[in-house]
Amino acid sequence: MPEGGSERGVRFWPACAVPQLLVLFGSQTGTAQDEAERLGREARRRRLGCRVQALDSYAVADLIREPLVIFVCATTGQGDPPDNMKNFWRFIFRKSLLSTSLCQMDFAVLGLGDSSYAKFNFVAKKLHRRLLQLGGSALLPPCLGDDQHELGPDAAIDPWLGDLWKKIMGLYPVPLDFPEIPLGVPLPSKFIFQFLQEVPSVGTEGLKLASSDPQRPPSELQPFLAPVITNQRVTGPQHFQDVRLIEFDITDSSISYAAGDVVSIMPSNSETHTQQFCQLLGLDPKQFFMLTPREPGVPHPPGLPQPCTVSHLVSQYLDIASVPRRSFFELLACLSPPGLEREKLLEFSSARGQEELWEYCNRPRRTILEVLCDFPHTAAAIPPDYLLDLIPRIRPRAFSIASSLLAHPGRLQILVAVVQYQTRLKEPRRGLCSSWLASLNPERGPIRVPLWVRPGSLVFPETPDTPIIMVGPGTGVAPFRAAIQERVAHSQTGNFLFFGCRKRDQDFYWQTEWQELEKKGSLTLVTAFSREQEQKVYVQHRLRELGPLVWELLDRHGAHFYLAGNAKYMPADVAEALTSIFQEEGQLSSADAAAYLARLQQTLRFQTETWA
Ligand code: 2AM
Repeated sequence: MPEGGSERGVRFWPACAVPQLLVLFGSQTGTAQDEAERLGREARRRRLGCRVQALDSYAVADLIREPLVIFVCATTGQGDPPDNMKNFWRFIFRKSLLSTSLCQMDFAVLGLGDSSYAKFNFVAKKLHRRLLQLGGSALLPPCLGDDQHELGPDAAIDPWLGDLWKKIMGLYPVPLDFPEIPLGVPLPSKFIFQFLQEVPSVGTEGLKLASSDPQRPPSELQPFLAPVITNQRVTGPQHFQDVRLIEFDITDSSISYAAGDVVSIMPSNSETHTQQFCQLLGLDPKQFFMLTPREPGVPHPPGLPQPCTVSHLVSQYLDIASVPRRSFFELLACLSPPGLEREKLLEFSSARGQEELWEYCNRPRRTILEVLCDFPHTAAAIPPDYLLDLIPRIRPRAFSIASSLLAHPGRLQILVAVVQYQTRLKEPRRGLCSSWLASLNPERGPIRVPLWVRPGSLVFPETPDTPIIMVGPGTGVAPFRAAIQERVAHSQTGNFLFFGCRKRDQDFYWQTEWQELEKKGSLTLVTAFSREQEQKVYVQHRLRELGPLVWELLDRHGAHFYLAGNAKYMPADVAEALTSIFQEEGQLSSADAAAYLARLQQTLRFQTETWA
């Protein structure tokens, strides 16, 4: 941003006089990051200086110098903070901080959560309380954004942000000759694209993601390019769902993993979508470009080679298959030439247009690429400089690892349900990562997938004789296969698996493997085939039938209980089955049974890993 200069007719404050706002985010799926960046843009429209950073990439000790900080934090799973704020979370709750003046700033906390979970916005609420305890002044009560709200989290966020800006602008009044930059006028882009006339002779090897250094474990910044060995459909032909067992070769990497770990995979856009996007925007996929940040201190997009081709940028980086957020429409409206398309986009960006935008975009799960197809004149006018402001980065997807290195040395297996569903749009909706994985055919030539491993939420006991009860219907069984293989290799006994599927000849994953382990006495398998009889039979029904055994294992033998699978109804149903077992077999009152379950949870003897 030029100092006190002009950019597209917009004047900015001289850098020394600009009040500095800091926005720190903890984001798991990208929503919190998007909200944080939106705050950054709104601050710049109001002529405030603003830095937006992930919590764990910020040096926390510097908080002491910050006058004004907005925290944007998601709550994940069982009330946990997102991965990119875990270090901050540990730090901020240190007892020794109470005697410091670390957090003397004005602050506000914007939370993102899901009210269908018991610990709704737990992280935001707890952070707000802690910052008050540490001496901070809250500008407002925390905002509790809710994924379950019909209009999405913005329903709570929009009015809260209105109040927040009133407070902030009261603290930092802006001189009259620096009026707010109205919506519809674009802020400068973060990067400048410089197209290269010739194919560069150096640096192009960077276009292939670097294979990992054997000394350093692969990470999001440097994934390992793992060869795919098998990609096999494991559901029968009559099953509605395409579920794949995918095996990777990790022998040339430094990857090591244990039961309970998860693998993150970075998917790509299909070639068809990449070409379609380039065509709409009038871009040559083969063209090389260099990126320069417009302001000093803006980091290069992580993982993006320099120089890079347009095709690499679009296929590996831009999430054109995601459902756009409101900020996308706000910027698109600014970039749209005058006419009907621009008017519609301005309406979608305004507060009154939110219901219509929800109906057009979120309800039918329309993608960025599809929206651009609906606004072709706008798409053709998008300056490449704005691509990285407009379109978010493709996010990695996490899968429970389904194998153990002790049973499959040098290999890593996952079980992937290919996501596909219909909305009112003609084209079925397809999950980017699962569809991409399913499309990889190693028989047609070598294929590599960028991946890295991180700990998941399940931790299994190391003691040889602690029994474990695992409840994993459908693909929920994946982490338990890893655990069972590992425990059998270590001669750990007491392995109880409750598995549920529709029919034994359609989706009974690893049937023969379980049966062999049963024969050897290494596993007790309990099955629930939901569609082999008129009445549905689910894992929780089997648990209730075996209530005396379950109670004895938990209460007398100190068993650990694990639950994995679809987050919708199953976890609550299983928890209910457990508390009724505690009441019946342990003669506990309903309050005591709930307290018993809570105690199991607190002592990590009841652990869950669920997914949407
Ligand atoms: P259904 O599809 O026949 O209803 C794996 O998906 C298995 O989990 C299937 O047999 C599925 O049964 C079952 N399932 C569906 N809802 C469930 C719930 N609330 N609790 C336990 N199992 C469930």
